[in-house]
Amino acid sequence: MGFATNAIHVGQEPDPATGSIVAPIYQTSTYVQEELGKNKGYDYARTNHPNRKALEKTLAKLEGGHAAYAFSSGMAAIDSVFRLLRPGDHVVLSEAVYGGVFRLTTQLLVHFGLEFSFVDTSSSDSVLAAMRANTRMLYVETPTNPTMRISDIAAIAKLATERNATLVVDNTFLSPYLQRPIELGAHIVVHSMTKYLNGHSDSTGGCVVLTRPEDTEKIYFIQRSAGAGLAPMDCFLVSRGLKTLAVRMLQHNANGIAVARHLDAHAKVRKVYYPGLASHPQHDIARKQQRGPGAMLSFDLGSLEAARRFLNQVKLCALAESLGGVESLISLPALMTHASMPKEVQERIGISEGLVRLSVGIEDVEDIIADLDQALLYV
Ligand SMILES: Cc1ncc(COP(=O)(O)O)c(C=O)c1O
Repeated sequence: MGFATNAIHVGQEPDPATGSIVAPIYQTSTYVQEELGKNKGYDYARTNHPNRKALEKTLAKLEGGHAAYAFSSGMAAIDSVFRLLRPGDHVVLSEAVYGGVFRLTTQLLVHFGLEFSFVDTSSSDSVLAAMRANTRMLYVETPTNPTMRISDIAAIAKLATERNATLVVDNTFLSPYLQRPIELGAHIVVHSMTKYLNGHSDSTGGCVVLTRPEDTEKIYFIQRSAGAGLAPMDCFLVSRGLKTLAVRMLQHNANGIAVARHLDAHAKVRKVYYPGLASHPQHDIARKQQRGPGAMLSFDLGSLEAARRFLNQVKLCALAESLGGVESLISLPALMTHASMPKEVQERIGISEGLVRLSVGIEDVEDIIADLDQALLYV
């Protein structure tokens, strides 16, 4: 079956008890046992519940993985992946990772004996140069947030496999509709489901999609032992959101292209960062490994003051953290999503104070462009 059919039907069979076309929300913490040691497949909701099981089945199918696990946030999912490692292990990460991943690794996991190196993973040579004898994992975000650099997943997967390391790809910015890292050789895919997978900005969630039985067992053990599995209501919301993922991504992508081209031609905008523009340094890799450039873009207005004047004037685009919802969301990474990153690191990876990030929603694109244009008058 095709992607859209799978997104609607896999894991989403009608409820066998009642015929309800949409399975109910199993809002219960525990399950009665028929007799000692005998139950209907569920005993306690931290360990598992029907809504999570259904969602995980859909996620594994859409990413082309062997299994998937749903967590209470993207960060909980990512944290569980780092728990596959042992003290003394080394990880090479994209230097422009999401600020929360930078904080988790450099301020928390580093105290548990893990070592982290941050490099520009858009250069496979830099990845290779950073690898050591104890490198067990490569962690790549592509496109990167917010500078939209693209890493060549197939080339990095080859490096990982040759050196017995695990390649983890954060696919949050594109969703499996626009990019399928497992088909390109990634071993593990993570998502903040708070973004496109749910798509309606009404729950937080994360997932880990796996390709190897040994990782699958460990991640399920971590999920049920540490207790950050996603709750029934949130699983229901993400499952509902996934049913429209294909049509939403088509419209996000079309709107993203139109807005990027418009901003690129605007006199007040110094530079647009968007993999769909021919001027983007990794445009060819994006064309090769993505089904479309997506709806995330950043643009430089030259200074914090210019960005502030602009952001205080937008009306349709909401000034808010997060991305991937049906509504357009706009933010200033230097003071918002990436505030936990030291200034010198921000500067090195290209997060200037005038850099604005836009998650292009699926409103009428003329309305999004009109809102940006009226706000640019104040720059
Ligand atoms: C690319 C990326 N990965 C991971 C996360 C973390 O996800 P969450 O906020 O759901 O914990 C985010 C959050 O913005 C993100 O943008």
